[in-house]
Amino acid sequence: MLHTRDISGDRPLSRARSHHFFNRGRKIFPSGVTRVTVERQPVPVYIARGEGAYVLDVDGNRFLDLNNNFTTLIHGHGFLPVADAVADLLHRGTCFSNPTEHEIDLAELLAERIPAIEHVRFVNSGTEAVMFAIKAARAFTGRTGIVRVEGAYHGAYDWAEAGQASSPTRWGDGSRPNAIPAYRGTPPSVADDVAVIRFNDVEGIERRMADVGARTACVLIDPMPSRAGLIEPKADFLQALQAAAHKHGVLLVADEVLNLRQSYRGASARYGLEPDLIACGKIIGGGFPVGAVGGRANVMSVFANDKGKPLLPQGGTFSANPVSMVAGRVAMEAMTEEAFHGLERLGDNVRSGLQNAIDRTGAPFSVSGAASLFRIHPKKQAPSDYRSGYPTQAENDINTALSDYFLHRGILLPNGAAACLSTAMTAYDADAVVTTFSDFLSTPAAQEFEASR
Ligand SMILES: Cc1ncc(COP(=O)(O)O)c(C=O)c1O
Repeated sequence: MLHTRDISGDRPLSRARSHHFFNRGRKIFPSGVTRVTVERQPVPVYIARGEGAYVLDVDGNRFLDLNNNFTTLIHGHGFLPVADAVADLLHRGTCFSNPTEHEIDLAELLAERIPAIEHVRFVNSGTEAVMFAIKAARAFTGRTGIVRVEGAYHGAYDWAEAGQASSPTRWGDGSRPNAIPAYRGTPPSVADDVAVIRFNDVEGIERRMADVGARTACVLIDPMPSRAGLIEPKADFLQALQAAAHKHGVLLVADEVLNLRQSYRGASARYGLEPDLIACGKIIGGGFPVGAVGGRANVMSVFANDKGKPLLPQGGTFSANPVSMVAGRVAMEAMTEEAFHGLERLGDNVRSGLQNAIDRTGAPFSVSGAASLFRIHPKKQAPSDYRSGYPTQAENDINTALSDYFLHRGILLPNGAAACLSTAMTAYDADAVVTTFSDFLSTPAAQEFEASR
């Protein structure tokens, strides 16, 4: 058991040791940390250890973890079957310049479950999986363009990023959103190869594909993009994507790095999408770095050297390392169909509990998400895409107040991003999330926000 201090009240948190580590970090890292995503004002929460659904920080505070390393840890922290399997492996070697049976075990499991996967290659991150999926689509079609959804996050490959950080002053006409290179220094030519559509915009996909279909290699689609609102896809939108891709000889690439956690067979299968390629990551590594690009065997043949030399060579020093492969297999084996259903029931309870709190008070909030994922929007009307979900300054401020309130009540709620559940959580934890949100709605900050709407 963790030795913890009860922090379930609203009292100030002790943060002295987190401050100490942040001061050290600031001397060596830009911004004091090594990932933009862990920045937090005034100081990040430095973790000492995790156990199941909870983490313990360096000051002895205990938190329910709704982040789970950005949706990776589907079993929470320190899942024993993974810990045991990895401990056993560590003494026998962690990486080799040779293949091992472990990569075959995980690949077979994925191919057996996920309809889109006939063949698969492992890489080390979701970014790499998306990058290789795009490169594979280009090698297969001989075209360079991609079509992607405004605001969706697909990792850090330049072409996957363009259009991710769109903002009202630059995003342009909704019928043809601008493909804005995400960051300063990205070659402007990247935008020439990217066309942006709005999520769930059926006519938009048809319009854009009529413009650029002939030079497009793939449509890149996350079935429920978290940063674009964590909104479920409409069936006719996915059908339009599928039809337009087919019509223009364009491949459909599903980015399920995050949303594979939606069901035993993944998110595309859940929503009836039939991608040619699929990018995976996060949960399939059991808590270790991983990515995978899989798909139809004839498309995946771009990686094969059948004709002497692959059209697209793919390597990676740590790709398919036994630690990630074994941890991933063990974690995924424990995710039986029943385990996915149990997690979804917990997710349904959290979402409906949050919604009830909103309905009871008439507070200007809404809830989106599916399966084990949820997001709270400070908007009365649930957003339908990135633009309608784009927060104003006041909404950003109330989001920060919300996650600060949760922090002081012993819950790590990702700021404005996808929150997720794990199999380590119980109905008690789900209740704590709902009660905390409900209590937040009667704080002066929430009341003031409501009055300003
Ligand atoms: C949908 C999606 N694609 C790609 C990525 C990039 O994955 P990684 O952080 O493992 O590079 C992420 C990460 O959050 C993601 O959510």
